[in-house]
Amino acid sequence: MLSAVERKIEQFVSDLNDKEVSGLYTKLPHGKRLRAKLILKIAGSSLSVVKTAAIVEMIHAASLLHDDVIDDAYTRRNKPSINALYGNKTAIMLGDILYSKGFLELNNISPEVAKIVSNAVVQLSLGELKDVSLSKAFNLDKEIYLEMIYQKTASLIEASAGAAAVLAGKPKDAYLTYGRNLGLAFQMIDDILDITSDSATLGKPALHDFVEGKTTLPYIYLYEVLDEVGKAKLRSLHTKVLNMQEQAWILSQMKEHKIIEKSYLEAKALIDEAIMLMDAQGEEALSGIAKEMIERDF
Ligand code: FPP
Ligand code: MG
Repeated sequence: MLSAVERKIEQFVSDLNDKEVSGLYTKLPHGKRLRAKLILKIAGSSLSVVKTAAIVEMIHAASLLHDDVIDDAYTRRNKPSINALYGNKTAIMLGDILYSKGFLELNNISPEVAKIVSNAVVQLSLGELKDVSLSKAFNLDKEIYLEMIYQKTASLIEASAGAAAVLAGKPKDAYLTYGRNLGLAFQMIDDILDITSDSATLGKPALHDFVEGKTTLPYIYLYEVLDEVGKAKLRSLHTKVLNMQEQAWILSQMKEHKIIEKSYLEAKALIDEAIMLMDAQGEEALSGIAKEMIERDF
């Protein structure tokens, strides 16, 4: 039924009656549609469910359009980003159009769903600001990192699951926690993959996060276990374009101190809780989505 969501997004875009926007939309690579998938699995495929899924995906797409401008990212899902193809101004405006149209349509769902989703977009925006601000410093506070990834990534996934539960008349809290945990684990694994995957797989240079100034969970854990010399060295490499030797040093330290395993276990604990919650609801498909997430390639 994901195709119904695709059609709905296309319809929302064509409602705008603007050839340029329609053309730009075709250049936007679709992702995995994780949020839409969750909504459909929780709430079925009635018109208001499909619309909610389409709205959430449009908001998510808008946030990535803006994020690629903010991050100076020239690829998205292994394809050129909209800012790379048409410049920052176009990427920002396309994002504005997609998310404002999403909000317009959100008014037609229900006040409770509108509140859940719009609150998540506030969190998303606050999270992005926090991400950028934190990358200017050398953040070593795990709680601050967790709060930032909650806002930036988990909030919209949490809202997707919660809004779908409301639409389906299911107990909201279990689904909110499921979505929150899934979102946190998703971002943690994304941050791990930035360290463990090669640049061809990632579609961006390896260790890109650290070069950008982002001290994600593995860097926080690594810093904790390094001796004074190691700590000073890691600090000196922060935000630097790393040469081969420097990259190799970071990777060898991660390996020696089993940092990736430790970070992965933290994501896995969140997934295990999510699976337990959905098993209790008899939601096998949702437990399955959570399992798949933790079984991504390392
Ligand atoms: C990706 O993070 C970014 C997000 C999940 C959130 C971005 C949010 C905004 C730009 C706020 C504005 C919101 C709207 C609706 C316009 P990342 O850079 O860590 O991940 P990446 O590797 O996929 O780029
Ligand atoms: Mg980014």
